[in-house]
Amino acid sequence: MNGRLAVYPGSFDPLHHGHLDLIERCRSIFDGVVIGVLENEEKQPLFSVEERMAMIREMVGDDGFCRVESFSGLLVDFMDRMRAKTIVRGLRAISDFEYEFQMALMNRHLNPRVETVFLMPKEEYSYLSSRLVKEVFRLGGSLDGLVPPSVLGHMARRLGRDEAGSD
Ligand code: PNS
Repeated sequence: MNGRLAVYPGSFDPLHHGHLDLIERCRSIFDGVVIGVLENEEKQPLFSVEERMAMIREMVGDDGFCRVESFSGLLVDFMDRMRAKTIVRGLRAISDFEYEFQMALMNRHLNPRVETVFLMPKEEYSYLSSRLVKEVFRLGGSLDGLVPPSVLGHMARRLGRDEAGSD
């Protein structure tokens, strides 16, 4: 059973529809997915790891397929703790490829039992990233259809402004 348990790691700062699209795609391939939220406080995330986990749980619910966990240190060590062999990563464009390729091969070097599979999100999310979500939000642009309303609410409260996009 664990052979079909995947880990989908990331910063998820914050979660957006590209992430949710990937989680949905996992349902037809795996028996379960652990969403591994990186504890990267040194990168000064907008949301703490607990907040990011709560936002993900709010969206994916608890239907026995998804589990939300945090991790620090090496991803391959987290894989061992989860007893999972497959890392899922999203590939949006060629620009993602080099970084993802390096990570996949380094992870396989560190733990030869671990394989990385790449899933492509829906085309309409192929330009979406958490970095751009934060930038557009800060500058008052619309994120309709790109970020769950609940996440927009959390961003508005954190950044202290109207979540509709106007200042
Ligand atoms: O969503 P992100 O920020 O692109 O996710 C990056 C993540 C969390 C997958 C990557 O930074 C990671 O795995 N970090 C854990 C540390 C680690 O294992 N580093 C070596 C990877 S080759």
